[in-house]
Amino acid sequence: MTLTEFIAALDALGADGPARIAAATDLDSWTEVRNALIGRQSGRLTELMGALGALPKEDRREAGQRANTVKVALEAALEARRAELAAAEAAGGRALDLTMPARDRWYGAVHPVSRVIDEVVEIFRELGFAIALGPEAEHAWYNFGALNFPPDHPAMDLHDTLYVGDEQVLRTHTSPVQVRTLQQYPPPIRILAPGNVYRSDPFDPSHAPMFAQIEGLVVDEGVSFADLKATLSHFARRFFGASTRTRFRPSYFPFTEPSAEMDVQCGVCAGSGCSVCKHSGWVEILGSGMVHPAVLEAAGLDSERYTGWAFGMGPARTAISRHGIPDIRILYDSDVRFLDQFAR
Ligand code: DAH
Repeated sequence: MTLTEFIAALDALGADGPARIAAATDLDSWTEVRNALIGRQSGRLTELMGALGALPKEDRREAGQRANTVKVALEAALEARRAELAAAEAAGGRALDLTMPARDRWYGAVHPVSRVIDEVVEIFRELGFAIALGPEAEHAWYNFGALNFPPDHPAMDLHDTLYVGDEQVLRTHTSPVQVRTLQQYPPPIRILAPGNVYRSDPFDPSHAPMFAQIEGLVVDEGVSFADLKATLSHFARRFFGASTRTRFRPSYFPFTEPSAEMDVQCGVCAGSGCSVCKHSGWVEILGSGMVHPAVLEAAGLDSERYTGWAFGMGPARTAISRHGIPDIRILYDSDVRFLDQFAR
């Protein structure tokens, strides 16, 4: 063998070796490739090293150096591939697949009820309302007595109210926050009180035993029903759109006199009638009224000097009519397929 022939054989091995190493798909085939390349018995490089002695003496040094360079490169490539295959085997036999699509990123979504609350809070914040909070486990006096419920009112029945003690209830509405706020701060008062309330209701398409409410209260000297109508109409136009029509219907609540419910024209059918508005063209949004003098007095205020108005709305109802949701329970299922629609 001449030096030229020896170098050609080394080059062929150096070019071919890495591809054969990469083609090994498991540790068994890797062992075969290693033996074929550098194995002591029959490795191609070992054979070439053995042929060194047949070269002319003056060429042996260069040939030996070149053979060693190829050997080092093959050993490094073999070791790298062995590590890869061992890791893949440890991971359950799955080799790294660079063509696999990346996992989709999950985006958080604000729950549609929370979104209604956030938007309502923002609109009243612009008007100078502050946020007030009260306890969910509430004294019956704050929930009923101070709000002018007569002692035999059916709302106080076990059938409707969840009692947690003789005098303690899970609040059935956010209106007790009115009384707590009036006791704590002197007028002028402008507050919004969002929070959860509880009723002993079945969980069905239109009822939930727990739901959110947003209470509003304004108390000062000289506050009138005109303030109530103007403020709530402004709210409806800010929330539902500038051309939204509203109407007030007379109603009854123990803690307001006079009382009114506000409807907005149905946003789904624009008033022509659909299943969301039960073919009336209008959707009830909130209850409201002038704060009853007995409530002001119960909170320790002079009802000759001060007047006020209040309202209460259910943001779940609003979310339902806004999105045409057919069943209130969907809001509380925590099903990501539902919530994901509100992401981004
Ligand atoms: N508390 C009432 C309810 O739960 C809602 C309500 C009506 C609140 C009229 C008010 C109001 O402040 O003025 O059904």
